[in-house]
Amino acid sequence: MADHRSFFLDDALHDYVIAHTTPADPVRRSLTEATAALGPWARMQVADDQAALLSTLVQAIRPTLAVEVGTFTGSSSLAIARALPPGARLLCCDVSDEWTAIARTHWAMAGIDDRIDLVIAPALQTLKGLGDAVVDFAFIDADKTGYLAYYEELVPRLSPHGLLAIDNVLWAGKVLDPTAHDDDTVALRTLNDRIVADDRVEVVMLSVGDGLTLVRRA
Ligand SMILES: C[S@@+](CC[C@H](N)C(=O)[O-])C[C@H]1O[C@@H](n2cnc3c(N)ncnc32)[C@H](O)[C@@H]1O
Repeated sequence: MADHRSFFLDDALHDYVIAHTTPADPVRRSLTEATAALGPWARMQVADDQAALLSTLVQAIRPTLAVEVGTFTGSSSLAIARALPPGARLLCCDVSDEWTAIARTHWAMAGIDDRIDLVIAPALQTLKGLGDAVVDFAFIDADKTGYLAYYEELVPRLSPHGLLAIDNVLWAGKVLDPTAHDDDTVALRTLNDRIVADDRVEVVMLSVGDGLTLVRRA
């Protein structure tokens, strides 16, 4: 998992962080191994320390409905679903049958597959289909150019005690690079500026992983 560490940390500090975080269990270790076999795609996986943070947040919020945008092989969904209270559900949005098959296998291994609804379709379509559903916890980690649209679908549905977590908001520091004008970087800069100016929400940007923004209703 060397490539998954926060870009703020050198190897020694990263190892220290991991050594002082509850260790991954056998299901998570199996997931990391299965994902690593995908080669360079594995870099998309949410790292163990960030997964532990997601579990902690979900455990504190005790959502009835959680939503994940971008499931891949299941690291974040495993963390979120395991921390749900009895009867709660996690809606997972992705477009890949192949990658989410690995997630499905590991949800079953963890005994949490019965609390997860996976929809294979563009996430915007799935989110619009939520109608007037109330969302208590959401995690956005998919195509960066779609983030603002996902944010706009999720914020009005957030419950008063709800939390929206958004990954990759620092984009390895490119958000500050004046020479970076690619679509993903521009989308993330635009999103970050939009959120801090949005009077519907309170926001804190954390320098964990690749940058994680937490949003709640104002
Ligand atoms: C960075 S990965 C997600 C990592 C995942 N959260 C984890 O814990 O490992 C991004 C995922 O978004 C999915 N994706 C890309 N475009 C999408 C879209 N328009 N709608 C839904 N999912 C999309 C990809 O198939 C990929 O699995």
